[in-house]
Amino acid sequence: MDKTWWKESVVYQIYPRSFMDSNGDGIGDLQGIISRLDYLKNLGIDVIWLSPVYKSPNDDNGYDISDYQDIMDEFGTMADWEELLDEVHKRGMKLIMDLVVNHSSDEHPWFAEARKSKDNPYRDYYIWREGKEGKEPTNWYSNFGGSAWEYDEATGEYYLHLFSKKQPDLNWRNPKLRQEVYKMMKWWLDKGIDGFRMDVINFISKPDEFLDGVPKPGKKYASGSQFYRNGLHIHDYLQEMNSEALSSYDVMTVGEMPGVTPELAQDYTSDERNELNMVFQFEHMGLDNGPNGKWDLKPLNLIDLKENLTKWQIALEEKGWNSLYFNNHDQPRAVSRFGDDKTYRVASAKMLATLLHMMKGTPYVYQGEEIGMTNIRFGDIEDYRDIEIMNFYQEQKEEGAPEEQIMESIYVKGRDNSRTPMLWDGSPNAGFTSGTPWIKVNPNYKDVNAEDAQKDPGSVYHYYRKLIQLRKTHEIIVYGRYELLLEAHPELFVYKRTLNGDTLLVICNFYGNETEFEWPDHLPNSSAELLITNYENNQSDKLGTINLAPYETRVYLIKSSC
Ligand code: NOJ
Repeated sequence: MDKTWWKESVVYQIYPRSFMDSNGDGIGDLQGIISRLDYLKNLGIDVIWLSPVYKSPNDDNGYDISDYQDIMDEFGTMADWEELLDEVHKRGMKLIMDLVVNHSSDEHPWFAEARKSKDNPYRDYYIWREGKEGKEPTNWYSNFGGSAWEYDEATGEYYLHLFSKKQPDLNWRNPKLRQEVYKMMKWWLDKGIDGFRMDVINFISKPDEFLDGVPKPGKKYASGSQFYRNGLHIHDYLQEMNSEALSSYDVMTVGEMPGVTPELAQDYTSDERNELNMVFQFEHMGLDNGPNGKWDLKPLNLIDLKENLTKWQIALEEKGWNSLYFNNHDQPRAVSRFGDDKTYRVASAKMLATLLHMMKGTPYVYQGEEIGMTNIRFGDIEDYRDIEIMNFYQEQKEEGAPEEQIMESIYVKGRDNSRTPMLWDGSPNAGFTSGTPWIKVNPNYKDVNAEDAQKDPGSVYHYYRKLIQLRKTHEIIVYGRYELLLEAHPELFVYKRTLNGDTLLVICNFYGNETEFEWPDHLPNSSAELLITNYENNQSDKLGTINLAPYETRVYLIKSSC
């Protein structure tokens, strides 16, 4: 396997709206990010992924772009962005941008033109169809609820929007559109960025024929995802994008891909195919979904998680590369979701971090994860901001679902859980803004904040620092071969990594009970060095039967030469 910088990097995701506000308008901005770059450098991260900062009417917080080559007013100016890039590079870090080209905003000039008339030169930049028997062209639902088609009065046709109606899907069949996208990408690459995270990039190839999906009993709309995920021409488009825009730059690419399988991910990420470096898969994020999807709550079964992550580790062992994540701006906070955000907040956040960071792949840290930030429970739906949450609430109300049930789903799975402002310190609004924040601050900021975490050697923050440091000093963490141990154990997630005769043993107690771990017979315990643990004084334990405390984790290095 070739060694590359992006395999050896740790990426930190910034959601700019909620990271740091410099001018008191309650909205995070580019100058705010610049003011916190030293914090990121001290954490040890290598690459910053910036969620969209482009011009946008903010129907979906910047994932609806009206100008791909300009900066959102609330966030600052192009000069601020250039300063940011410069300051990131000065500190020896890299910057990757979000590329959102499955759809644009309906306020993008292309769409404004396209909707003027059927023969407008931009009409074919989007996907238009006639209605069927007075209804939408297909029965697909949008990922944010309701139909995926919007009727356009002026021209008497429907346009496709897999997300909100203010996010019309771009037509990748049109070579002119593709060239516009590549040109725009090169413009950013020439400015010196270090890569792209590509939004729902496996949705860009739409089918030849638009067919109906099968609705769940009692539902009007159906998923159309089988027709548009990983579509017919997706590999051609990615290869073309690579040769036209990416291949002459030393950059990294990560494609967000709901519905990607390990087999497809091999194709998307294997070196010789020149498509992407890695993808974000979603299977592990769906393990706590009930049969009716994300809002249908189901507890996570550890065996399922082990099986799933192991499948991905093995599938991309020789061919391709994994990205490792539990958190991002679309997911609830992992410590609340999979750990214990009360009694064992610190221990369980550290355990989850260990589990992920010791695997093979590039780890992604989402802002606030490194201090163990938790979910929020706003009492009033009015306090939520996310379009997905608002639409879900509305639809459920209309269907007569009980308020408590709707709110419980939002508490557990809502995207605003991860979008509350970064908790910087114990001052009002957690030091995020001197104004009124665009979304309320998590009330636990006096207990959970970056300032205190940096002062406390036992904090989640210092633990992340150490994990990141270990990756830089031990090649086995980056390149070692993965193997799951104790497959059927109901409480422990244990695996090893091996490289050049050395072994890394990763032990995670996934629950809040004490449990025992038997040191494996095949591993010499005399030479085992404890690299990291979330409980003190473990080094002196006799290795044989190890008693593990709630959420305890330990990583041992066993050198072949000893
Ligand atoms: C995936 C992004 O991560 C999410 O935040 C966004 O709403 C959709 N794509 C649409 O762009």
